[in-house]
Amino acid sequence: MADGRIAIVTGASSGIGRAVAGHLARAGARVVAAGRNADQLGRLADELAAAPGEIVTAPGDMTEPGYAEGLLATAERTWGPATVFVLSAGKGLPGTVLGSDPARWRELVEANYLAVLHQLRAGGAEFTRQAAADGGGQARDIVVIGSTVGRQVSAANPVYGSTKFALHSLVEALRQEVCALNVRVTLIEPGFVRSGFQEAAGYDMAWFDRIAEECGPLLTPDDVAETVGFVIDRPRHVHLDDIRLRPTRQRA
Ligand SMILES: NC(=O)c1ccc[n+]([C@@H]2O[C@H](COP(=O)([O-])OP(=O)(O)OC[C@H]3O[C@@H](n4cnc5c(N)ncnc54)[C@H](OP(=O)(O)O)[C@@H]3O)[C@@H](O)[C@H]2O)c1
Repeated sequence: MADGRIAIVTGASSGIGRAVAGHLARAGARVVAAGRNADQLGRLADELAAAPGEIVTAPGDMTEPGYAEGLLATAERTWGPATVFVLSAGKGLPGTVLGSDPARWRELVEANYLAVLHQLRAGGAEFTRQAAADGGGQARDIVVIGSTVGRQVSAANPVYGSTKFALHSLVEALRQEVCALNVRVTLIEPGFVRSGFQEAAGYDMAWFDRIAEECGPLLTPDDVAETVGFVIDRPRHVHLDDIRLRPTRQRA
């Protein structure tokens, strides 16, 4: 149950992460809401002021050293040790191997791969330390937002897709490393979601509108947030570790 749990959500200033933070706070969780945009985080906190849970905002750039450790420390200082860590923050990059802008590759890899790897390591270390102390008496959850293009090669979007392929490998490996202590590491791979993602990355919005017309209605951030909520609400012995969700009419 989310009720009473202490959760960290990255990317909470927009889209899926924002919806996850809202879903958890409305279900009674205490949430550290992380992202770079402090104004957006503040608006989220205002919106959730009357929710049964609580929220504290943690503005910062996830590519900075010590970011994940800082979020875990914020949770601990505010309420106690976190038991849920949702890794939603990420960015897109339009284009193919030949067509994408090489000047943006490093930034993409630093955010979508290296920063997430640091978060997985920090979260895994913290949750196994807690579990060693209490015998794994409760489930602890790390939930990572991947993408369908991290499972199925997209010729149109391979550079972004390769960062999500890497997450698939890391999540499954960490799951095997920590599962004996009832730490669940979950990958959720959404198809097209309507959020700030496409515009922030500079995708061609006319192309995106055509996609929406062809295979919409697209997923909403709330669709993904409900899935995250369902995963962490399973009893301790049940782990839905790898979930792909797409708009019903999305073919590939
Ligand atoms: N939208 C889709 O169609 C789709 C499909 C499959 C998977 N996904 C994945 O879903 C996740 C969430 O995307 P979304 O759709 O919610 O997009 P979004 O609305 O653009 O949200 C992205 C979030 O990531 C945060 N972020 C980006 N770079 C950051 C950095 N360096 N440091 C800290 N935070 C950073 C942003 O925070 P600030 O704005 O505050 O910087 C924002 O909160 C991403 O991992 C994305 O790859 C999206």
